[in-house]
Amino acid sequence: MEKYIINGGNRLYGSVNIQTAKNSVLPILAAAVLTDKRVRILNIPQISDVKNMVKILGCLGCKAVCEGCDIIIDSSSADCCEIPGALAHELRSSIFLLGPVISRFHRAKIAYPGGCDIGLRPVDLHLNGLKRLGVKITEQNGYILCNCEKLTGNEIMLDCPSVGATENIMLAAVKAEGTTVIKNAAREPEIEDLQRFLNYIGCKVCGAGSGTIIIEGVKNLSGGEYLPISDRIEAGTFLIAAAMCGGEIEADGISAENISSLLHKLRENGCKLAVKNDKIKLQRFGKLISVKSIETQPYPGFPTDLQAQMTALCCICCGNSIVTENLFETRFKYIPELRKMGADITVSGRNAFVRGIDKFKGASVASCDLRGGAALVISALAAEGTSEVMDLSHIDRGYGQFEHKLKNLGADIVRTPI
Ligand code: UD1
Repeated sequence: MEKYIINGGNRLYGSVNIQTAKNSVLPILAAAVLTDKRVRILNIPQISDVKNMVKILGCLGCKAVCEGCDIIIDSSSADCCEIPGALAHELRSSIFLLGPVISRFHRAKIAYPGGCDIGLRPVDLHLNGLKRLGVKITEQNGYILCNCEKLTGNEIMLDCPSVGATENIMLAAVKAEGTTVIKNAAREPEIEDLQRFLNYIGCKVCGAGSGTIIIEGVKNLSGGEYLPISDRIEAGTFLIAAAMCGGEIEADGISAENISSLLHKLRENGCKLAVKNDKIKLQRFGKLISVKSIETQPYPGFPTDLQAQMTALCCICCGNSIVTENLFETRFKYIPELRKMGADITVSGRNAFVRGIDKFKGASVASCDLRGGAALVISALAAEGTSEVMDLSHIDRGYGQFEHKLKNLGADIVRTPI
């Protein structure tokens, strides 16, 4: 077990390279199971979710080798269609393997997935979509059992634009017989990235980024090298950190368009932003001003994965804010920890009512999920005095070299064993 010790109060200066997106890399790694040709994914982030996904690929019989920051997957040796509970519980994205494993073996047995405890997180839309493609599904002792004679394209209407369900259905449909149309599909940039990767290895997918995705089944796939898009949530976390601490930082290698909902809010907060090519520069020296309301929505709305970090920022703004979480039921679990640092927040159902305070005060806090953990770290950086943040395993799931990158920006943060 490890913790961060953070001496708050330093302004942040400098530039930070943004990692490739966790939420792109995970489904792309799952997609590598679809082809028996070698796939090289470039510059993968050093995060535990990726390590766990690679372990699962190993358990399916795929060979995965790291070369520097790249990973090479050879799925030609894949010979197993079962993912045991111990691995599936480690990360939510294990569910993405359902589509590719069924496509490859016409059967699958996968334990219900784990991941951040931020709400019910059902997988009914994934399963209903797969059923529409001809998969028979039963559930037994915490396992999802699937089999089919063949996968056949169909029209699938999602009840809500679930990112994971959209990706899982795409992955199952690319080698199905005939055409699949996904309606009310999620429109996140990571879905467009998955489409780009799939087409690169020979699939025929179009429409990602819009609400309708059309997939024409193909028989044979190739391999190749692929560089996933950058992580808009990591970039957003650093920008919010700099807004909270003050100073001037540049996030390198990130499309501003993919986080425009955040950039609009940060401007309202009183930050100066400049965008040039794939660099976003943020400057904040004056007071932070509250934005009246922030509501999480599917893309292109404000991302739920930046809700906790933005609520932390609202805490030290001049004035009051209301933050509404529309996607996940229990994504305010970090708030009692923020209160230990002096935050003045009342939660009622989906809403957090935040009254601005002058400054956070250092405290001992524990992260309970990935983004909530990041929110605690950046609050501690902006706080007066020393804080410790426990339970880093949550943060390590999604932020590679987090403290190293923060130190480079001037933060006083060290990781130590408990
Ligand atoms: C993905 C992201 C996660 C992000 C979330 C929302 C990955 C690896 N993770 O998670 O970081 O927070 O999108 O942007 O990409 N739902 C159902 N039934 C289902 C599936 C989802 O009711 O079968 C509901 C969920 O409970 C939730 C909403 O749909 O309320 C959105 O969830 P979804 O988009 O599926 O999130 P994930 O794919 O799990």
